Amino acid sequence: MLQQEHTKDREFHFTEKDFHELRVLIKANTGINLGDSKFNMVYGRLTKRLRALKLENFTDYRTYLKNSGEQELIELTNAITTNLTAFFREDHHFKTLADEIVPEMLERHRRDRRLRIWSAGCSTGEEPYSLAMTLQESVPKGWGDVKILATDLDSNVISHASAGIYTNARIEGIDNRRKERWFDKAGPDHIQTNQALRDMITFKQLNLFHEWPMAGPFDVLFCRNVVIYFDKPTQRKLFDRYADILQPGGYLLIGHSENLFKTSDRFENLGHTVYRRIS
Ligand SMILES: C[S@@+](CC[C@H](N)C(=O)[O-])C[C@H]1O[C@@H](n2cnc3c(N)ncnc32)[C@H](O)[C@@H]1O
Repeated sequence: MLQQEHTKDREFHFTEKDFHELRVLIKANTGINLGDSKFNMVYGRLTKRLRALKLENFTDYRTYLKNSGEQELIELTNAITTNLTAFFREDHHFKTLADEIVPEMLERHRRDRRLRIWSAGCSTGEEPYSLAMTLQESVPKGWGDVKILATDLDSNVISHASAGIYTNARIEGIDNRRKERWFDKAGPDHIQTNQALRDMITFKQLNLFHEWPMAGPFDVLFCRNVVIYFDKPTQRKLFDRYADILQPGGYLLIGHSENLFKTSDRFENLGHTVYRRIS
């Protein structure tokens, strides 16, 4: 096979069997479905790990994984996850939140004055901080109790997210008014999300396929550019759990290349990857 022919030129010997065993383990642990085309990607993402552990090949790495248990499984999943994200990514979702969802939720919660939002697969935090800015700007000051839960499988991105420190370049696309209001300087090349935003968000490491410690219910759930890595049966189970943890009428927002077609009939499609729970 073509890929194996190239193993001669590689720093570490990596066979089809190594790839197969690793992807079975990753799928079982994270739901992430790695197709044949991800052979080189898996090799590339794990070479740093092999170097750090001073291992000679991937067969030794698989043995190391078996013997070291949970800790190396965390390192493995951290290396494999794709954490690409940005502030106000898919901007239309934040506009829909401010203009349509928030007014409806303020009305619905006029008695208990409690709003709960979950950013599932939040990566390095740009998504929940964009949610926090949008909510700060659209919910009247002093209205009530507004909280965001932000979770990710990858423990490294959760540490990054909870610190809220980013390079200046990460916020280049944000308008000046928001930059001044929501970010503090943190050295010459860095900024930090301000205390008001950080206070709204609870960051937690959470594998979506493990038990969820929170009871909900949530009003709005952002799970964007996460299920794209899962196969349809895995997505079906997850969307069913999402419907259970959302309020009836609660909103689910997914990524631009994702959809619920033939995976869940518990949501109605409101267009632009915005869904509402109907059962
Ligand atoms: C491409 S990022 C998306 C970030 C953000 N939602 C956005 O759209 O910009 C996908 C995130 O999903 C997380 N993820 C993948 N599988 C997961 C799982 N089983 N449980 C929780 N998070 C997972 C990854 O660690 C990664 O940070």
